[in-house]
Amino acid sequence: MQYAKILGTGSYLPAKRVSNDDLAQKVDTSDEWITTRTGIKFRHIADEQEKTSDLAAAAARLALEDAGVAPDEIDLIVVATATPDMQFPSTATIVQQKLGMTNGSPAFDVQAVCAGFMYALNTAHAYIKSGMSKKILVIGAETFSRILDWNDRTTCVLFGDGAGAVVLGASDEPGIIHSKLHADGNYLDLLNVPAQIADGKICGSPFVKMDGPGVFKFAVKMLSKVADEVLTESGYSAEQIDWLIPHQANKRIIDSTAKHLGLPQEKVILTVQDHGNTSAASIPLALDTGIKSGKIRRGQNLLLEGIGGGFAWGAVLIKY
Ligand code: ACO
Repeated sequence: MQYAKILGTGSYLPAKRVSNDDLAQKVDTSDEWITTRTGIKFRHIADEQEKTSDLAAAAARLALEDAGVAPDEIDLIVVATATPDMQFPSTATIVQQKLGMTNGSPAFDVQAVCAGFMYALNTAHAYIKSGMSKKILVIGAETFSRILDWNDRTTCVLFGDGAGAVVLGASDEPGIIHSKLHADGNYLDLLNVPAQIADGKICGSPFVKMDGPGVFKFAVKMLSKVADEVLTESGYSAEQIDWLIPHQANKRIIDSTAKHLGLPQEKVILTVQDHGNTSAASIPLALDTGIKSGKIRRGQNLLLEGIGGGFAWGAVLIKY
């Protein structure tokens, strides 16, 4: 059996950085409210010309360079996004074109909102384990700023734009050890963007609609549960985890999962203060930030976990 090993990582944030104080000039909020409830201080916002595929391609170029892999060596691209450039084609094919790839390898998007990167990694893992792929580019990329109502203080302060990418390669050495996904469509009312294109019109609101406290309770419960499942099923204990790399939505949700696992704050990669919630991009952004800062080192055990609209959630255990 072949493992899916991380060969390289990369990430990209748009240049425009917006503080809580900047937002307080536009909506009735404050740095104190946002910081206390979420831990968020800053978020990056794409400029008008920047599309999700631009962010994704920028992160991908850095990940390929880090891995020492040329674009045409990639035999599958999986992009996790809830904010694709277009209704179709997939953002993954647009990224393929932006990377100058001509090898005809498959490329597709997965849609699991903030759990998107867990779904994308799990899919890539299955392709490598089955022998169908040897080198895969897995990307989480979002321009969530485009689906926010900037007059709604209950949502606009929470999100940001960005992208993170990982190059996975088939290897005899351990990489992804175990992964687990879940979904429960009965909770779709808690978090969604109702809009759809029909009869030449956009029907339904194109903005994020969220029951914040409902999401909070569900996320805390399910993230702890799926982390336990991955550890139990892989025969690992929480003490063997060097780094928890959670979806970066809210520091209070992150603290609660770390506490449940008995992991001290020093073992948690935290980027929510600088990035806000970048949905499918948040976990690969945190992973790359942790690696490039020198915190995460080769041979360490990483537990990644995320949850998002659907609801959909999952966790992945990796030996880096
Ligand atoms: N600034 C100031 N006041 C605000 C703001 C704001 N930005 N937003 C809401 N308020 C007010 C509300 O109007 C309410 O006022 P009221 O009591 O007069 O009615 C008060 O603050 C409390 O509102 P709640 O929604 O009960 O606040 P809560 O403590 O639940 O915090 C929050 C809200 C931060 C959204 C929290 O519920 C949360 O983090 N939920 C998880 C949401 C999330 O992470 N979503 C991301 C997508 S899914 C995922 O990634 C897991």
